[in-house]
Amino acid sequence: MSIVVTGATGPFGRHVVTSLLDRGAEPGDLLATGRRVETLADLAERGVRTARLDFDDPESMPGPLEGARTVLLVSGPEVGRRVPQHEALARAAATAGASRLVYTSVLHADVSPLSLAPEHLATERFVVDLDVAPTFLRNGWYYENYTAQLPVYLQTGAVLGAAGDGRVSGALRAELAEAAAVVLLEDGHEGATYELGADTPFTMTELAETVTRVSGTPVGYRDLPVDELAGVLQQAGLPEPVATMLAGMDLAIRDDALLARTGDLARLLGRTPATLEQAVRAALA
Ligand SMILES: NC(=O)c1ccc[n+]([C@@H]2O[C@H](COP(=O)([O-])OP(=O)(O)OC[C@H]3O[C@@H](n4cnc5c(N)ncnc54)[C@H](OP(=O)(O)O)[C@@H]3O)[C@@H](O)[C@H]2O)c1
Repeated sequence: MSIVVTGATGPFGRHVVTSLLDRGAEPGDLLATGRRVETLADLAERGVRTARLDFDDPESMPGPLEGARTVLLVSGPEVGRRVPQHEALARAAATAGASRLVYTSVLHADVSPLSLAPEHLATERFVVDLDVAPTFLRNGWYYENYTAQLPVYLQTGAVLGAAGDGRVSGALRAELAEAAAVVLLEDGHEGATYELGADTPFTMTELAETVTRVSGTPVGYRDLPVDELAGVLQQAGLPEPVATMLAGMDLAIRDDALLARTGDLARLLGRTPATLEQAVRAALA
């Protein structure tokens, strides 16, 4: 058995590899890949094989994928370029004879109003047509998308957004990655699509309340018109297209686009996933 993980140089893929090791995978059966392969030295020291693999470089793919049984395609970060990148990797995996391809998608990719969804859906559709058994891990929002903002929330006393009372099924990135490791190690997930988030969703008001409760610093949620939010994000230094995209995501969240009530994550982990409060507590510790 061999498992190839793309994006292993990023935090999600790295968590997948360490979860695979924690769950008893043989290090030599794992191939961790990315462009910045030098960042994988510690995993190589543990016996994990490492290789440079670049979605944009077709010649970099056949070598690492040779002999792969299962491939985890961790979605790339370059919004707008992901369809050809993912298709290149998926095609190369199928050509190499991989029997399973697991892909990290986004919640409700087939019906989601999120601007990110079409690239994920296009990837899913491309993979389904290949001669390889697919599993789609439709990940909810990482808690870290919010906990990374804790210094700003605490400094300004405000969580700013345009998400209204929309509910988010977040999860620790590490737990979503652990769920991926489970799927990679077990049989029986072929053809499955999982909608993944922790069991208790939260609104932005509840996020602010949680930060207040855990930190002892009063933080409130301010719901802004979407254009105003985009302006604030631009003033904070984000490029205009990124600010507009992020503000637009809040509009989708307002309509519960990131709500998942399937229990899939808990089932894959075999335990209750961490709550937002636990994530905030850990981030502030
Ligand atoms: N659910 C959420 O809340 C959420 C939030 C953010 C991102 N995401 C998605 O989840 C993915 C993983 O999350 P993360 O936090 O680990 O993201 P990240 O830190 O941006 O890592 C992205 C990974 O993609 C690799 N990569 C980028 N361009 C590549 C290319 N051309 N060829 C091969 N590999 C390439 C990077 O490695 P190298 O640079 O070494 O190639 C890195 O390992 C992201 O890429 C994004 O699609 C989800």
